[in-house]
Amino acid sequence: MENKHLLPSMRGQKVLITGGLGFIGSNLAHKCLELGAEVTIFDCLDPRSGGNLFNVHDIRDSIELCHQDIQDFSSVSHSILNKNVIFNCAASTSHPFSMREPWIDLDVNSRGVVNLLEAIRRFNKQSCFIHIGTSTQLGKLQYDIADEKHPEFPTDIYSANKCVSEKYVLIYAKSYAINTSVIRLSNVFGPRASIHSPDFTFNNYFIGLALQNRDITVYGKGEQLRNVIYVDDAVSAIIMASQNSRANGETFFAVGDEHFSVAQIAEQTVKQMGSGGVKYIEWPKSRKAIEIGDAIISNKKIKEYLGWTPIDNLESGLIKTKAFYEKCLQEYLR
Ligand SMILES: NC(=O)c1ccc[n+]([C@@H]2O[C@H](COP(=O)([O-])OP(=O)(O)OC[C@H]3O[C@@H](n4cnc5c(N)ncnc54)[C@H](O)[C@@H]3O)[C@@H](O)[C@H]2O)c1
Repeated sequence: MENKHLLPSMRGQKVLITGGLGFIGSNLAHKCLELGAEVTIFDCLDPRSGGNLFNVHDIRDSIELCHQDIQDFSSVSHSILNKNVIFNCAASTSHPFSMREPWIDLDVNSRGVVNLLEAIRRFNKQSCFIHIGTSTQLGKLQYDIADEKHPEFPTDIYSANKCVSEKYVLIYAKSYAINTSVIRLSNVFGPRASIHSPDFTFNNYFIGLALQNRDITVYGKGEQLRNVIYVDDAVSAIIMASQNSRANGETFFAVGDEHFSVAQIAEQTVKQMGSGGVKYIEWPKSRKAIEIGDAIISNKKIKEYLGWTPIDNLESGLIKTKAFYEKCLQEYLR
């Protein structure tokens, strides 16, 4: 029997998923539907993000889809009405893009979050708000293994705005007794990701290259260590936080149990996809400037508070990922 997360029923719950056409949001939408929730997706399908309408093609008739922008306070205010849970997966998600276009990143990743929080404070204080943060908020680690108390010194604009928006969420939790929590993720991989651009999570890009039988390029020796997490595990953590009052006002890292060097992730990806190769080249200057070295993160707190644990590891996650893309690769290469 397949090992599965024991997730609570969401029958009768109305959920809003901002960024629900993207990688994590769409996997979350599938799982919430499976658990019985009524799902509304709020997404502007930003061409610079990983949104893809194909991500919901199989559930299109079961969801409400609002083509709207979190920068628009009145649309946000309308969409949160009568929702029990609001998952915020909308974001401008590219680190390099945030360095090229800092104002856009600021508007979406900080102002957009304030719009959601302020709308909830004014019009739906009973709801539960789950925000997604990132391990890159920490910047270069000051100690291993990093936990939620680790200081934050982000090295790029995206991570800085994720850092400040998380603080807005915690301020609203404390000052207005709004039921919120933050799940910080790191290197999520799996089905429905943006696998054709190096601008997003590196391990999904590696998967895309290998599936096209192209070489994966690793900068330097690829020795820096990273936690990775299969998307179903990330989704379970997000849902569990929304259904457990112990999560209120808390920040959690939801990361996999193991860590690997970037080179190991590349080699394992090639092995499991059964195609492509790995090529090692010198660091480009722009990437070296925002590189943070080893990043090993603890998942102890979320295990203790919410009883969450990752079920898939790198190998089993890659096997499932390959099975998914084999059926629809072209939909993810445009
Ligand atoms: N993928 C990862 O490894 C990872 C790691 C850490 C944190 N996160 C966080 O998880 C969340 C989801 O990331 P993802 O990987 O699914 O990204 P994604 O780029 O696949 O999805 C983001 C979605 O947000 C939508 N969006 C962008 N701007 C919007 C706006 N102004 N209004 C409405 N919708 C908008 C996009 O159209 C897209 O569908 C983000 O907050 C991201 O920072 C992801």
